[in-house]
This record gives sequence, C-alpha cells and structure tokens, in this order.
Amino acid sequence: MKPHKIYKISLLLIILNFFYLNVQAAEDRLEVSSPNGKIIVTVMVKDGVPYYRVMRSGKDVIKPSRLGYVFKDAPPLDKNLKIARSHQESVDETWTQPWGEVKDVRNHYNELRVELTETRPKPRQMNLIFRVYDYGVGFRYELPEQDHLNDFQIMDEETEFVLTDDHPAWWIPAYQRNRYEYLYQKTPISAITRDSIRAVHTPFTIETTDGLYLCIHEANLTDYASMTLAPTGNHTLECDLVPWGDGSKVKASTPMKSPWRTILIVDKPGDLITSYLELNLNDPNKLGDVSWVKPGKYVGIWWEMHLGISTWGSGKHHGATTANAKRYIDFAAKHGFDGVLVEGWNIGWDGDWMKNSDKFSFTKPYPDFDLEEVTRYAAEKGVTLIGHHETSGGIQNYERQMEDAFALYQRLGVRAVKTGYVAHGQNIRWVDENGKVHKEWHHGQFMVRHYRKVVKEAAKYHIMLDVHEPIKDTGIRRTYPNMMSREGARGQEYNSAWSRKNNPPEHTCIIPFTRGLAGPFDFTPGIFDIFHSTVKTNNQIPTTIAKQLAIYVIIYSPLHMAADFPEHYEARPLAFKFIEDVPTDWQDTRVLNAQIGDYVTIARQDRHSEDWYLGSVTDENGRTLEAPLSFLDAGRKYVAEIYKDAEDADWQKNPEAIDITRRLVDRETVLKLRLAPGGGQAIRIRPASKVESRILPAY
Ligand code: NOJ
Repeated sequence: MKPHKIYKISLLLIILNFFYLNVQAAEDRLEVSSPNGKIIVTVMVKDGVPYYRVMRSGKDVIKPSRLGYVFKDAPPLDKNLKIARSHQESVDETWTQPWGEVKDVRNHYNELRVELTETRPKPRQMNLIFRVYDYGVGFRYELPEQDHLNDFQIMDEETEFVLTDDHPAWWIPAYQRNRYEYLYQKTPISAITRDSIRAVHTPFTIETTDGLYLCIHEANLTDYASMTLAPTGNHTLECDLVPWGDGSKVKASTPMKSPWRTILIVDKPGDLITSYLELNLNDPNKLGDVSWVKPGKYVGIWWEMHLGISTWGSGKHHGATTANAKRYIDFAAKHGFDGVLVEGWNIGWDGDWMKNSDKFSFTKPYPDFDLEEVTRYAAEKGVTLIGHHETSGGIQNYERQMEDAFALYQRLGVRAVKTGYVAHGQNIRWVDENGKVHKEWHHGQFMVRHYRKVVKEAAKYHIMLDVHEPIKDTGIRRTYPNMMSREGARGQEYNSAWSRKNNPPEHTCIIPFTRGLAGPFDFTPGIFDIFHSTVKTNNQIPTTIAKQLAIYVIIYSPLHMAADFPEHYEARPLAFKFIEDVPTDWQDTRVLNAQIGDYVTIARQDRHSEDWYLGSVTDENGRTLEAPLSFLDAGRKYVAEIYKDAEDADWQKNPEAIDITRRLVDRETVLKLRLAPGGGQAIRIRPASKVESRILPAY
C-alpha cells in the first residue's frame, strides 16, 4: 500500500475512533431535569451496568442505584449493556378528573427515554423511561418486542433506591398474615429489619435528615407483581417483588412495560398530598362516558356485625334481613345518603366463612333477605343498594360467578359493589388444570391480574367498586374511573369489638401521608357511640366525635360511609348535620398545616358548590393550630359552621363533648383550631346570605 493511503486510512481510523469515544463518553451519562430545573436525574452505564441517580438543588436524594432484571432460564439483563439511543421530550398538559380530590391535574414533566442494548452476541434490548416533575420522579422499564427475548419469567427486579442517610421513615411490614392492616411505625431505615422483617410495603414515606419529604411508591401496577422494599444495609432499599407461589415474580412476554417506580421529593409534608404523580403516570380514562360513575355517601348493615350485635350468617341474629335493610333505606332516604350497604345477604356465610370460600354464592340471597324487594324499595325511595361480594380469597369460585353476579346487580339497579378478600397472607388458593393447589399472596401477579379483571368486568355492567383487602392503589382510577375506593390499611373496624388493639389517635395523623398517598381509602368514619354503649363497653373508640367528623375531610374517599347506627345519629342531629352536608367529590384540595403523625389540617372545595370543608385532627396531644382562609374569594363573607371539641373534651375522658357554632369569616380570617387531646375539628364554610352577614358574629 502506498504511504499516503496508509496515512489516509490511519487518519480516518483516528477520526472515527475519536468520534466513537466521544459519542460513547457522552452517551454513557444522560441527564434530564424537572421543568423548574431543581431535580436532576442522571442515567449512567458504568462498565456495562445501568444506574440512575436523583439530585435536588445540587444534593443527592438517590445516590447511583442499580437497575436491571434477573430471569429464570435466561441470563440477567443487568450488565454488558450500552446506550444505543436516547430521546427527550417535554409535556405540559392539564386533564380533568371525572371525580376526585381535585378537578384539574397538571401533568408537567420532562422525559428521558434511554434505549439500552447488550454488547454480547444475540443482544437483547431494555428501555428505561424517566419522567421528572417539579415534585418527583417516575421511571419504568420497557422490554420491547425483540428477537432474543420473548416469553420470560422475572426472578428479580434489581431496582435499588440508595438513600443518603439512615433517614426516619413510616412503614408497615410486607409478607404478613393481615396484608396491609398494620399500624405504621416510624423508625430509621436501618431499624426495619430488626424484627426479621424482610420488606416493607409502599407508599413508603421518608423524612430525610436534611429536611425533605420523600415517598417511594409505584404507579400503574398492571399485570406485574407489586413492589415491596427490602432494606439491604447502607441506606439502601431494593425492589422486592411479591412472588407467585412457585417463586417466580412476574410471568410475561415482550413487549412488556413495568409499573412506574415513583419517588416524591418535596419540602413540606402537605406537598406529598397535593402532588398527583401516580395519577399522572397512569393512562387516561379507557371507559369513555363515565357519567354513571358517581361519588357519594352510604350507610349500611355493617357496624352491627363488627360489634357482634348481629351476624353475617343466617339465624336469629342475621343482620341482612329485608326489614333491617328497609330500616336503613328509610334512614338513608331521609338524610340524603346515596347508598345502603348490606353485608351477609348471600348464601355462604354460615360456619367459618373464612374457610368456606368455595361456598359463597354471589347471586343467591338468604331466604330472609328479599333482594328483589329490597332493591325495588330502595329505588322507590331514591336510594341504591350497595352490593357486597366477600370472596374470602376464593378467586376461582368468584370468577366463575362474577359476570352473572354483576349482571344481576345491574338489572336490580345496584351501582356500586364492595368486594372483599379476607384470607391470610399467602393463602389465596387456586387449583390448576392438573388439580395442583397453589397458594398466592394478595399482592403478587396472580392477584394483581384478578383485581384488574374485576374492575374491567364491573365496568361492563356500569358498576363502581370499593375493594376491601385490595391490592394497593397505584392510580388506576384514572384509567378505570369505576375503581372508586379501597381499604388496604387499618380502618375503623379495628376500633370494634373484635380487635385486640384499637388504632391509636396518631393513626389518622399518619394515614394521609402514607396509605392515603396511594389513593382513596374507605376508612368508614362517623362513629358517634364512642363508648360502645351496647357491647364491650370497656373498648372505647380512640377519638372524639369532632374528630370523627374531621376524618370525612382529611381522609379522601369518593365513597364515604356513615358507619354508626341510625339511632346514634338520630340522638345527635346537630353533629350529624356535618355528615349529611359533607360532599365526597372535590374541586380543590389544600393542606393548611401538617406534621406527620402529630396533626394535619386539610381544606377541600366542593366540586358542585362554592362551599369549602375543613378537617383538622391531632394525635393524643391537644393543640391549637392556625389555619388561614386565604383560599376564599376576595370581598366575600362566608359562614363557618364549626364542629369543635368542647373545652373539656378529651379522647379518653370526655370524647362526646362537641361545640357547634356559626361565625362569619372571610379570606383574611385566620382560624384558631383548638383540638382536644385525640380530637379534631370539622368546618363547613359556605357563602353567607345578606341577613347572615348582618346578624352573625365575626370569627
Ligand atoms: C373485612 C372488611 O374490611 C369489612 O369491611 C367487611 O365487613 C368484612 N371483611 C366482611 O366482608
């Protein structure tokens, strides 16, 4: 070869090499920031291994943390990777919820899409998508359709969250008998594993040692296992997917999208509540016209069974009789409730119903409950029956009957069904086509699929759902707006006769910042008979009456129950007025003050009027909080209808003492909310009439 040719080729090689190295170097580290520039996510591939890192205002929030998958019968997809392509885009849109805690939600983020490919023969592809908001980050994996990855089983998702310190956090343990129904503990992250706890559930809320509030959770959990978080030392949490009975975590095929892993990053606890990250990361409504979906309030044949006054099963104490249902319907009609829940109406409750999951019929009522007559009577009174499907974990029995059951309810005008899955952890049994029995957790892929199937099936029959013993909420109500409310935490029933340990007063000061961040919670507030005057009189409810009222505002649910008996409400008509008035569908939500576990004050504007409602609750300590009403319209007088703990109220000694007053307020008013130990305050704020503006005293 002539020397000038050799020279030309080497020059070309040098240029190519230079170009290649530069591209490589640049592409090994990609960055995307939030619209306000404060949060920066870096995606890196170091020696073939993918990592992400999150910083806020120049400081680490999540240090470089691993990403990747381990499969059954295939090499892991977590090394020998390089960045093949990347793409960034920005979105700023506002969408409207058909119902919710706020009407309009702004979805404003910058997205980085990173396409990774293996550097070995027969390379496989994995995409990482990061969306960065001013208040947090969401990221997910995509395994696109490709030649060398088709059907697969995920044995581990290696996502890590490497935190910067041993921050204190609020958590409930995963892999337990009672699913999500545990009291939240606050400990440093390192203390979680102290009692051989393997992992914690999400939402997992953290107060960082440098004053930020974080919450790790997930969005759009669809056909995947739910994520728990396993502390692995060095301030690190690892994604621990809830396994199938056979040990595999996710059975899937390409193309596959994981749920979004979400991290809220805010300065104040209240901002955790008003950041709608999970909702934004779900797909828009897939049901089209959902005018049949309607938030509302209900009463029902329920608390009496929990107190042991009547029974779900048949016999002389059977609660679900035609006559009793009509009594509740009359009460609901008189006081403006939308629905009446009737539990124990169907065959299957006799004996130990938790062990008889295959005995439940979802279409056959007990002989003393005339379903046709009850629904006819309800319709005549302008009330609807709220259906009840307790499966006690008998999924196959339920799925066999589900269509018929929803069709029956639809024919009878039932618009909402409460479902239930009372079974202990890892005790959801199903039998495969070879007769082999499998046992699943409530939170693995098997059940995630089931819960979703029910939502879709119910939608076909225009039925709304309120799911007890559910899979945690990950925001799918945006896509399926008939998915209204859930349990998935210790609700009021833990304050009933069967529970050995009541919820302490601080419970409701923790819930809005933990379980409540996932989505609506059917807590079933409104108990006025605090002393359990008829049963277990030594098992008083840990609350004041004013706090029970405040819970309607501070715990968000589009379906709220008034859980006590009609006679207990009729005995206290003035306090009951708040429950009659309070709506369950909101235009706007503001957190006025908050300290997780100690107190919280929330104001919400009614979606269908100009009224505002305010709720404030405290833990076992009494306190006085200030609440500025600057959200009210300027130049306008309002009447505040105040339901507050009486001077001498106290959750232990004097819980039923409540003061109800009316005062004029405006946007300059700063309320002084005096909360008794274990107490609360509830306020309706409505525009004042001319006469009221003249005669009512000012606040
Ligand atoms: C547990 C639910 O949380 C409760 O509300 C229901 O009454 C019982 N299961 C029976 O279904």
